[in-house]
Amino acid sequence: MPIDHSNGKCYRLIAICLIMDIEEEVLRKISPSIEQREYVNSAVRDIISAVREEFKKTSLNLDVMLVGSVAKDTYIGSPDLDVFILFPTTVGRRELQDIGLHIGRSILSDGREHYAEHPYVRGTWRNLDVDLVPCYAVRDVSKIQTSVDRTPFHTKYINSHLKNGQHEQVRLLKQFMKGIGIYGAEASIQGFSGYLVELLILKYGGMRNVLEASATWKKGETISLGERGRHFEDPFIFYDPVDKDRNVSSALSLNNFALFIYAAREYLANPSLRFFFPNERRSFELSDIRNMLDERGTELLVVQIDRPDLIDDDLFPQARRTLKGLTDLLEDAGFAIYDKIFYISNNIYLVVELEYTTLPNSIRHYGPPAWIDNAQSFLDKWSNKGLSEPFLEDGRWSVMIKRDFSEASILVRERFQQTSLGSAFRNLKGLVITSGKRALIEENRAAISALLDKRKNWEI
Ligand code: CTP
Ligand code: MG
Repeated sequence: MPIDHSNGKCYRLIAICLIMDIEEEVLRKISPSIEQREYVNSAVRDIISAVREEFKKTSLNLDVMLVGSVAKDTYIGSPDLDVFILFPTTVGRRELQDIGLHIGRSILSDGREHYAEHPYVRGTWRNLDVDLVPCYAVRDVSKIQTSVDRTPFHTKYINSHLKNGQHEQVRLLKQFMKGIGIYGAEASIQGFSGYLVELLILKYGGMRNVLEASATWKKGETISLGERGRHFEDPFIFYDPVDKDRNVSSALSLNNFALFIYAAREYLANPSLRFFFPNERRSFELSDIRNMLDERGTELLVVQIDRPDLIDDDLFPQARRTLKGLTDLLEDAGFAIYDKIFYISNNIYLVVELEYTTLPNSIRHYGPPAWIDNAQSFLDKWSNKGLSEPFLEDGRWSVMIKRDFSEASILVRERFQQTSLGSAFRNLKGLVITSGKRALIEENRAAISALLDKRKNWEI
């Protein structure tokens, strides 16, 4: 008997209608209104003429270009203006920096210097965030001197390739990634950059096609729109169509790559606005935290450190490194780690979930086989010195000795400074260590909650 597929088809049709409704609603919320567009456009016109005015004070042949998502009409929400000052390549790096920063500071009253590969100024203009970035005007991407010199080429590439209707698709995919928490290539996010989202839409046509395509992606997935240059070992590789030796996706972490694939599958199976606009995540109550830990039978160690005065792009990698230093220290001393996170608010918190925060006073120390020459020196060293006499097992000497550190908190207090820490963390200012039941206090609640709360953004 032939199988009747009509029911299945019907369900698929309903799912597609639901998805279309959801996407329309998202677009209604995120597409800029006519007033907003006018506001942004007039701010852009004015800042560009203000920059040109500044050019008159120099004798150089400078140019200014709007780049980024406002230039590409792919921004969501209140956009940041990416304004680039193009210098002739005859100008030295030092001069480019000095003049670039000077113009930035004159135009943006609240401008603060930031350092990517070279300094630029970030501030606000008519309530919009602005990045004023000096770069070199080069004819060919192969001639670039700094990585930001590529950006004008990205803007031109997207503007000449994105078709009508695809701008909306970029906006949808950006909002989806934002909702699930992986939009942005900055170190605090390690997600998909705006340019990467645009390239994905160019590659697959629309948001839903990207989500469907991701179902077959594996670690090391490699995509391009043209030539492929050097080999990359990253989790996801999208060759930059304007520079075949660059991976546009180099900032994406393996976990965020995996989370995108998972979220795409979940959304397609159970479409919901929650993926785009998740509910606010609130910290667990201390009583819930106590219950969860009681149930698991694990113990926490919380290390609090003063927050160093660094921009996020420097702070996050250093906090990550410092957490690694802490967990290496604990593991080398015999502590078994279940889970770990760093949490950044007014302070830095390193939270480690351990099997136990206290280990036995003793540890078994393994020595050489009895027939090895230096077996005697092992016996000389440990006779009458350990918590047992040396003893044989399978022909090999062992001895029970006193463990250097049986309390995780004491180990951290005495040895953390000597481990490899992020450079800004080296003096461990404001160090507070709590462990076990004593760690379950209001001060640590948000950080502990961040470790225990494994719900995905759309599940809240
Ligand atoms: N850029 C890049 N790689 C990055 C960050 C930035 O190539 N990791 C370039 C891109 O050409 C991008 C421009 O710098 O278009 C501006 O960066 P950004 O403001 O982060 O991205 P937008 O495309 O403007 O997207 P958004 O809507 O998030 O501002
Ligand atoms: Mg931008």
